[in-house]
Amino acid sequence: MEKMISKKSLFIFNFLIICLTIFTYYADAWPQHAGTCDVKKVDQSPHAGDNGANIVKGDGGYKITTKKETDKYSITLNGPEPIHGLLIYVDNKDGTRFGEFDLDNKLLQYKSCEGIGQHNTLTHTSKDPKTFPLELKWKPDNSSFGEAVVRSVVVVNFSHWFHLEEVKFNSS
Ligand SMILES: *[C@@H]1O[C@H](CO)[C@@H](O)[C@H](O)[C@H]1NC(C)=O
Ligand SMILES: *[C@@H]1O[C@H](CO)[C@@H](O)[C@H](O)[C@H]1NC(C)=O
Repeated sequence: MEKMISKKSLFIFNFLIICLTIFTYYADAWPQHAGTCDVKKVDQSPHAGDNGANIVKGDGGYKITTKKETDKYSITLNGPEPIHGLLIYVDNKDGTRFGEFDLDNKLLQYKSCEGIGQHNTLTHTSKDPKTFPLELKWKPDNSSFGEAVVRSVVVVNFSHWFHLEEVKFNSS
């Protein structure tokens, strides 16, 4: 009898843990980092909502500008409201991620993703608001890389997020 009860409570306990995990996942998505390396995959994430109801067209007024400095580039984000979440990286013309970001902002961290270089992708550390302008420094591993493109997603809140327009820049 005792054994049966403990088995049953264990089952209920496990069931509750699973429910809690699922609930937390959907309630918060990925508060501690982006859950994917690929900006396109956010469209298949909990942020997208039922049948993609929260997939919005347009950039919501969030924009990126790039500027060459001596051996680095500054990549600056601007937008109407502070953001909770961010995923940003630079692809070369073959679609391979490359270059390295400098990290001098506690609200951001590197995300380990495919491509060249260990620090080729940045994401958030928490939901704490990131205000604008948000200036990032990025350095290519190959100074004559030709053409590059910045890809990014910003999350204002769980159901309110935007794909920023891709921004191309050249090494010359
Ligand atoms: C740098 O990139 C250019 C353009 O893709 C390529 O032709 C060149 O071989 C690369 N150099 C190095 C050292 O990888
Ligand atoms: C998400 O942000 C938008 C824009 O600021 C706002 O209208 C909406 O109420 C917010 N939703 C939640 C759940 O905070």
